[in-house]
Amino acid sequence: MNYYFITGSSSGIGKAMVEELLKYPNNQVIGLSRTNTLGDKQFEYWNCDLSKGAEVKAFKFQNIDKADRIVLINNAGDLGEIAYVGQQSDDNIIASSMVNFTSAAVLMNKFISAYQNFDGEKIIVNVSSGAANSAYDGWANYCSAKAALNMFTRVIHEEQLGQNYPVQAYAIAPGVVDTLMQDTIRDVEERSFSQIEKFRALKENNELYQAHEVAEHLLALIMNPKNIPSLISRIQL
Ligand SMILES: NC(=O)c1ccc[n+]([C@@H]2O[C@H](COP(=O)([O-])OP(=O)(O)OC[C@H]3O[C@@H](n4cnc5c(N)ncnc54)[C@H](OP(=O)(O)O)[C@@H]3O)[C@@H](O)[C@H]2O)c1
Repeated sequence: MNYYFITGSSSGIGKAMVEELLKYPNNQVIGLSRTNTLGDKQFEYWNCDLSKGAEVKAFKFQNIDKADRIVLINNAGDLGEIAYVGQQSDDNIIASSMVNFTSAAVLMNKFISAYQNFDGEKIIVNVSSGAANSAYDGWANYCSAKAALNMFTRVIHEEQLGQNYPVQAYAIAPGVVDTLMQDTIRDVEERSFSQIEKFRALKENNELYQAHEVAEHLLALIMNPKNIPSLISRIQL
């Protein structure tokens, strides 16, 4: 049996990954998000608002005695309010850091602790973004959180090199994908985000990746981590 813990399981890339995994009877999936859109005997939903510290702290990774592979996919993400620094609420900054970085870090800490004696395959995949390396105006919180996620991944990699039963950790950017997140980007006002036309053109020219193809590609990499090109990488379809 394989166990997959996936945040942001209710829509976009996360939902597409769950749907793909549920095609196979040897997968058990635990999804975390604020809403649920899935039902299956192999799927367990955990209601959790990842912008709230108390809710992520309450999550417990279950005891697993026997498994082939245990995977944590930190996929949940939220652009939040797209606005210049100085024009956004303090609460938006705090919530964005929580959803896009801090909650993922807490879950990685819990995951590594819970399964430190498990000798099967253990993988963490953080769904990152090209925004980790590009300073987009209006996206300060999101860009910074994704950059932190990449660095957290790199530090875990270093730490795990010396462990008896190491966890493999990767950060993978999915490319530009046709999900609710892209709908949100295209709807903002130009004064809050100067590159909006570029994102509108990607949609108009049918250049966005589809969530199901990204999900399939991500899962193929997770099943064969030797094919993941580097610790921090980006999907090219
Ligand atoms: N789409 C792109 O072009 C693109 C590009 C680069 C990176 N990414 C990354 O890909 C990942 C998936 O995004 P997507 O494009 O699939 O977006 P999406 O369709 O908007 O899905 C986002 C998921 O995150 C969950 N989420 C958001 N806020 C949450 C909160 N406070 N607590 C718990 N769950 C929360 C949502 O669930 P609920 O609303 O039910 O809580 C939803 O399931 C994100 O990490 C995103 O940063 C996407």
